[in-house]
Amino acid sequence: MAQVTVIDHPLVQHKLSLMRRKETPTASFRQLLREISLLLGYEVTRDLPTGTEKIDTPLAPMDATVLTGKKLVLISVLRAGNGLLEGMLDLIPSARVGHVGLYRDPHTLVAVEYYFKVPEELSERPIIIVDPMLATGNSSIAAVQRIKEAGGKHIKFVCLLAAPEGVKEFQEAHPDVPIFTAAIDDHLNDHGYILPGLGDAGDRLYGTK
Ligand code: URA
Repeated sequence: MAQVTVIDHPLVQHKLSLMRRKETPTASFRQLLREISLLLGYEVTRDLPTGTEKIDTPLAPMDATVLTGKKLVLISVLRAGNGLLEGMLDLIPSARVGHVGLYRDPHTLVAVEYYFKVPEELSERPIIIVDPMLATGNSSIAAVQRIKEAGGKHIKFVCLLAAPEGVKEFQEAHPDVPIFTAAIDDHLNDHGYILPGLGDAGDRLYGTK
């Protein structure tokens, strides 16, 4: 079963609470998501492969630790994934970036794909898929499936909030993909929204409602 890591760092939890407040304006919501994604990114990249390189400091030569292997890929599940992507790119500016466009059919809640563009050589790269809300799990599961079909192998999934129902579905569909989240909330409502949650992440991020 895929591992679930809840990143309960006090800074993450405080920023998340600010994001949940319904009176938090769009600009603050966006800024907070960017800040949280830095902190989530720090945790999810903890086991990136490293090696050493001979360098000279102003005072002495040394074997310095550097990242090794192929460049990491960040995959944003549109559109709310872009909010997490921005902060992650601040942390890993050389990452390659892919986009998967999925929307939830409002009646069936099934994920429908409308865009797919990812970097080459996916199979050799560490991949982090970002999608803020793991709710029913439908869109996240579909996004991971598409990345696997495109050759992705070393995949991690990062969200901001998860529902227990979504975590269970995701783990059943992709037992090999670890999940990183800032919190697991209570349950889903009849419309597939996370409770207590923070509302519609895309609308809050872009001020579309
Ligand atoms: N997507 C959101 O933006 N919010 C939810 O609560 C569930 C899915």
